[in-house]
Amino acid sequence: MLISIPKEQGAENRVAMTPDTAKRLLNKFKGLKVAVEQGAGQQAHISDEMFQAAGVEIVNRDQALKGDIVLVVNRLGDDEVKGLKENAVLIGALEPASAGDHFQKLAQQKVNAIATEMIPRISRAQAMDTLSSQANIAGYKAVLEATNHFNKFFPVMMTAAGSSKPAKVIILGVGVAGLQAIATAKRLGASVEAFDIRPEVAEQVQSLGAKFIDLGIEEDGSGEGGYAKELSAEGKAKQQAALQEYLKKADVVITTALIPGRQAPVLITEDAVKGMKEGSVIVDMAAGGFNRANGIAGGNCPLTQVDQVVVNHGVTLVGYSNYPSQMAGDASAFFSRNLLNLLPLLIQETEDGLTLNVHTEDEIIQKSLVTLDGVVK
Ligand code: NAI
Repeated sequence: MLISIPKEQGAENRVAMTPDTAKRLLNKFKGLKVAVEQGAGQQAHISDEMFQAAGVEIVNRDQALKGDIVLVVNRLGDDEVKGLKENAVLIGALEPASAGDHFQKLAQQKVNAIATEMIPRISRAQAMDTLSSQANIAGYKAVLEATNHFNKFFPVMMTAAGSSKPAKVIILGVGVAGLQAIATAKRLGASVEAFDIRPEVAEQVQSLGAKFIDLGIEEDGSGEGGYAKELSAEGKAKQQAALQEYLKKADVVITTALIPGRQAPVLITEDAVKGMKEGSVIVDMAAGGFNRANGIAGGNCPLTQVDQVVVNHGVTLVGYSNYPSQMAGDASAFFSRNLLNLLPLLIQETEDGLTLNVHTEDEIIQKSLVTLDGVVK
């Protein structure tokens, strides 16, 4: 059995498997071969020699598409699907929200594809959840990005030349990225407040030493599986109005609000931006993703431009959509560890050697499969 890893294309620095995880896989499954496209790890500072030392073969692109299992970070190009083997399993963050007819093409090629974003957030799957591992990294990096654009200190600074106050940071949306953003901003010494429409996260916010903002909206946004459900139009309007008072006092706002498979909720209207302090910074993590795929401008703020930094009404808006790629070393390591934990659900050791089985009765596989036996699910 061959597991192959093509090099990511475009502005992506990550690689779907690191030498460390490849070595663990090779040790776990006797008779397995792992092949990586030449230069696949280069952008993450992983050389071909490091892969070779782990027992991985270096191959060209055509060969890197020919695995029984093919691992990717992002979707392949439409024109490359024909290079995959029939009955191969393709695993990666395949972005179902923007897939268009790509999955149709995979199904026609009889490729069974697993979109890791669809892995359910159940305890057994935590170690396989690429969305969480990458959002965690993004939450950290988003705060560092804010420090780059904010022209004052985050911590209290007492110097002979005077002292600075702690920056007032507000985090909107307290899921995986939001929690890491809170922790990172606290570590940098900022004064941190956070809000989420799921009241149950208040305790987590407080346990990180931040203050939970109670906007007094009576609607509960708790949905299924640890995700949120959309607020009513009235609830949304109430939230926007109530938030405005907090935003006026903020130095930095990190927005991470997400409803799976839906347009990112608008939390900061243009009016709210107008009311913010000159020099304040919004890092809108929801820019990109579903909104970009569906031609919707902005993220949690409609003024955000995807993958750009713009200044509007004296406020800097940062709209980078791929923070994990900026931290390709750890992001690749975590991503590939997630896949290492997922692969045993597909590979079985039998007396005749290794076999590849797509066990649709397993909840994790069943929910994350987007094509099976020639059909888009
Ligand atoms: P998550 O689902 O864990 O957290 C989202 C949170 O938003 C949930 O706690 C939810 O209750 C909250 N929320 C939903 N509607 C809200 C509202 N109206 N007001 C306040 N809170 C609300 O998602 P995760 O994994 O933390 O991702 C967060 C965002 O960051 C997503 O938009 C995701 O696409 C984005 N992201 C961006 C990256 C980048 O590089 N820019 C990388 C990774 C994730």
